[in-house]
Amino acid sequence: MIDFNKIIQRRGTNSYKWDYGFNKNNENLLPLWVADMDFEAPQEVIEAILARAKLGIYGYTFRPNSYYQSIISWFKDVHDIELKREWIIPIPGVVPGISFAIQAFTNPGDKIIIQPPVYRPFYEVISELGRRINSNPLIEENGYYKMDFENLEKIIDNRTRMLILCSPHNPVGRVWKKEELERLAEICLKKNIIIVSDEIHADIVYKPNKHNVLISISEKLLDNTIVLTAPNKTFNIAGLQIGNAIIPNKKLKDQFSAVVNSQHLNSSNIFGIVATEAAYNYGKNWLNELLGYLHENAKYVKRFLENKTNVRTQIPEGTFLMWLDFRKYKGDIHKKLLKNGLWLNEGKEFGNEGIGFERMNIATSRKIIEKALKIIEKTVEN
Ligand SMILES: Cc1ncc(COP(=O)(O)O)c(C=O)c1O
Repeated sequence: MIDFNKIIQRRGTNSYKWDYGFNKNNENLLPLWVADMDFEAPQEVIEAILARAKLGIYGYTFRPNSYYQSIISWFKDVHDIELKREWIIPIPGVVPGISFAIQAFTNPGDKIIIQPPVYRPFYEVISELGRRINSNPLIEENGYYKMDFENLEKIIDNRTRMLILCSPHNPVGRVWKKEELERLAEICLKKNIIIVSDEIHADIVYKPNKHNVLISISEKLLDNTIVLTAPNKTFNIAGLQIGNAIIPNKKLKDQFSAVVNSQHLNSSNIFGIVATEAAYNYGKNWLNELLGYLHENAKYVKRFLENKTNVRTQIPEGTFLMWLDFRKYKGDIHKKLLKNGLWLNEGKEFGNEGIGFERMNIATSRKIIEKALKIIEKTVEN
């Protein structure tokens, strides 16, 4: 049994979550914002990194065949899909992957669809590259979110080139069902829209929900889809900056690779390589235990908030993020929470659709969750 209750001191390690921004000069602030976990990575990952570190030489390094094989077997085992070696392109992270895809397949001024409330960097990358956002907000019904297919068909015009899908969806925790992905695929294929499917949260999915890698939905999607993936969220190794693009279509792959090559990013983080291999080869049991712990955290949060407050939330289908609805309360809740010692992500970071919400990262020990919930209770009481 892995002890996810163990509290590891992360302050003083230059952690974004624990040392940055509001944390400065505030030792008492509980930071449940940035999406990394307060848990140690699997032991096999730690050992692989230590073994590599002992060599003492950290020169330019490429990703060997065994690295690709570890990804292929993970996807076969966990997601029931056969990837081909030649589909996988190394990238330094998923957000850089989104940026490469935008540069490879769209021109300045083109429109790109996103479905808010959604992960902030989607907005940033699109705007920074001079492309335009085409927004297709999710529909919310009693805290449950769905894609708006009718609106999607309407907003696609002759400048719309791409859709960035968040699957599973950060922040609302949806794991898109096969039928939803089929409907999305049908529209995008009909209208000639390239789909960039950000699947970084794919492994953090609670049963009976099942993640579908987008290209497994239909043969036709092999020609218009870029899947972006990484072991970062699953195994808590985001600081190693490693990821993979999966692009079955040769022409799209060459266009994407040309952008990556033009930025001279062909060497990889040494520790990222060995950590990925160890995680994908040996991390399955660890992941199953993690999912059990996270799911209990989610249930605990929901029960507590329902019993003690008017904050509403759903147990996420996937991700270690919870989307808390504070709309029954007036005033600047985010500011009040901060004042009382809790840093969550303010909902409006994810778009105007997120106003009145806060995103809570539940990948931390139960004790910290308990403290955070007490702060929420106190904040809404006053
Ligand atoms: C949906 C989503 N995509 C990408 C990332 C970050 O990916 P990377 O660190 O590999 O760029 C995150 C991190 O929170 C995320 O939630």
